[in-house]
Amino acid sequence: MDIAITKTTSPKPKPDWNDLGFGVYFSDHMLLMDYTMDKGWHDARIVPYANLSMEPSAMVLHYAVEVFEGLKAYTSPDGKTLMFRPHANGRRLNTSGARFCMPPIPEEDFVEGVCKLIQVDRDWIPTEDGTSLYIRPFIYSDQSNVGVRIPEIFKFVVILSPVGAYYKEGLNPVKIYVEDEYVRASKGGTGYTKCGGNYAASLIAQKKAQDLGFTQVLWLDGVERKYIEEVGTMNVMFKINGELITPELGDSILPGITRDSVLQLVKTWGIPVSERKISIDELYEAAKNGGLEEAFGTGTAAVISPIGLLSIHGEPLQIQDGGIGPLSQRLYDTLTGIQWGKIPDPFGWSYNVPIK
Ligand code: COI
Repeated sequence: MDIAITKTTSPKPKPDWNDLGFGVYFSDHMLLMDYTMDKGWHDARIVPYANLSMEPSAMVLHYAVEVFEGLKAYTSPDGKTLMFRPHANGRRLNTSGARFCMPPIPEEDFVEGVCKLIQVDRDWIPTEDGTSLYIRPFIYSDQSNVGVRIPEIFKFVVILSPVGAYYKEGLNPVKIYVEDEYVRASKGGTGYTKCGGNYAASLIAQKKAQDLGFTQVLWLDGVERKYIEEVGTMNVMFKINGELITPELGDSILPGITRDSVLQLVKTWGIPVSERKISIDELYEAAKNGGLEEAFGTGTAAVISPIGLLSIHGEPLQIQDGGIGPLSQRLYDTLTGIQWGKIPDPFGWSYNVPIK
């Protein structure tokens, strides 16, 4: 793929790598690519990070025609630039896009575009422990039309943000509120996609949880409000009586790449794993009788986020001593070890970004 590069003449000062937060700072450049019916995807270019312009009638502003991805780049101790399973993100972007009638981007072009942008902004990969360069690719329709119609014009954009931990708690356990009023997704809906609309619709529940002193919500299924689906921005897993249990994938659950990596890892450690329906009542019982050994969220942004307390039916239930469980810690250390290139990667997940 040809990618024209225009470099900025006024690079921004770098933020303090020790105080990045999440998604606050953005690098000097971005990748853009256009889609039209006659040309297909074309005109891939790297340009200085700047405002995007569109007409007030752009379809994304009215009908939320947008999907996105999240992945990260890291610098290994021996100076390599690494990404984690980027082809899986390219694949998932297309799965999400298909739900919104978007044209697919060839996986190889997706990875090549992201690599080129990282090569240009390599000095934006933060170096402190626990930091990384979060990569946010997204597709939206900036077609001018306020009729609800199948768009024929799209933009693909990739921006980069040096980040620290997603939650201010870092690896410390978060408090989760089980949401039984609002739902995130339903059968036949968009729950399995990474679309902006899913997150917009989740905000009211997040506010409710935060107002009550919790970090995030745990969603239940949209039909019976009975089965566990996922946590705000993560998939969720529970270790109950020695077995790791996570809700089975379906059209209302995001197929997380960290989720898949955790399942693969844990299987090699000889821990029994089950992907199945798990009801909130089963979890409540396990929390009450001590069978619930650990609970944690998995996601690109948060990596592994231990859950120390769950509020179920209004009852706060501490999980064990409320601290970081041994499996959560081992998973965090192993995953970040592979991602940062600090330990061997027997799975071939690490992707070496060629240095130009
Ligand atoms: C990610 O983990 O990459 C996510 O997409 C979460 C995000 C909504 C912040």
